[in-house]
Amino acid sequence: MPEQMQAFVMKAYGGPEVAALAQAPVPVPTATQLLVRVRAAGLNPVDFKTRRGDLKLVQRYRLPAVMGNELAGEVVACGDQVRRFRVGDAVFARVAKGAMGAFAQFAAVEEDHAAIAPTRVDMPTAAAVPLAGLTALQALRDELHVGEGQRIFIPGGAGGVGTFAIQLARHFGARVATTASSRGEALVRRLGADTVVDYTRERPAAVLSGFDGAFDLVGGEALEQAFGIVRPGSTVVSVAGMPEPRTASKDLHGGLAMQAMFWAASFSLRRRARAHGVHYRYLFMHPSGADLAELARLVDAGALEVIVDGVYPFERLPEAMARLEAGHAKGKIVVTMPDVA
Ligand SMILES: NC(=O)c1ccc[n+]([C@@H]2O[C@H](COP(=O)([O-])OP(=O)(O)OC[C@H]3O[C@@H](n4cnc5c(N)ncnc54)[C@H](OP(=O)(O)O)[C@@H]3O)[C@@H](O)[C@H]2O)c1
Repeated sequence: MPEQMQAFVMKAYGGPEVAALAQAPVPVPTATQLLVRVRAAGLNPVDFKTRRGDLKLVQRYRLPAVMGNELAGEVVACGDQVRRFRVGDAVFARVAKGAMGAFAQFAAVEEDHAAIAPTRVDMPTAAAVPLAGLTALQALRDELHVGEGQRIFIPGGAGGVGTFAIQLARHFGARVATTASSRGEALVRRLGADTVVDYTRERPAAVLSGFDGAFDLVGGEALEQAFGIVRPGSTVVSVAGMPEPRTASKDLHGGLAMQAMFWAASFSLRRRARAHGVHYRYLFMHPSGADLAELARLVDAGALEVIVDGVYPFERLPEAMARLEAGHAKGKIVVTMPDVA
């Protein structure tokens, strides 16, 4: 095993200039970790939000740090307590929160966070699944309890999370309305959206009502409109709005101080939700090998298509990140890792 590897490293919090391709030590897996030879890694908004320091209140990193939160590759070493994987297995994972490290030739991954990669798709496509796929699955299944015959509103359906969410909501038996510009309309319709509102031309709240739940991927004004689009007694789950007290207690296992901070930060948003008789929940997804195995099963069964906006070679990661940060990706952006010399 080499001691050094190529990686994408952030040296400080700030703009794109604080992160660059660099050499970093190959990680040493703990007893419960796999060492993965990374073949491809997916990009997510959390990458540039972390770099900018937007998430410092919930997650601070010791710098310099190798960036990247999801990957696909082969297991090259296993910690002593690893039971479910062997060297040579093709796996995919959302790495531990607070760890990052996926934008590199090697990454250490908790056994519980990994699953055997889907066999129907190549490594770059598999690397596009974990973070966005888990987010959509956990929001729709565990928070909204989406079921047969329901009508679900998904603002922001054309991006990384939305392209999974539309298909999963349909898979659970729901009918879906989403928002997309003309750039994304054909895609979201192909994935199963029954109703598409062009958010650049029309207010969704002017044309949609009586939905059984909403999964918001946009935040701000789009989230507030969702309160009026779902029926009283239902839930709006957001991953792009403002964290609330349950985000602290359930998702982040934070203490009373964090709960109080999120209580205050979300006060006016929760008040607006209450005015519509609606429950507001902000979800932070969690890594889960078991949930990833379910997503792999759906991909292999042809029930879940992975939409990839673009695949970039590792040395063009800054360009790939700029494309993501511009906010118009259709599905996911992925980078492929260089061979080990
Ligand atoms: N809390 C969590 O655990 C968690 C997990 C995953 C993601 N997130 C958050 O969820 C959000 C979405 O993530 P993502 O990966 O799906 O992002 P993304 O892939 O960057 O989303 C880009 C897509 O959003 C569309 N879009 C932009 N503005 C819109 C608007 N006002 N209305 C409707 N669509 C709009 C764009 O379409 P156009 O080209 O038409 O503009 C583009 O196709 C991000 O804020 C991310 O940080 C949170």
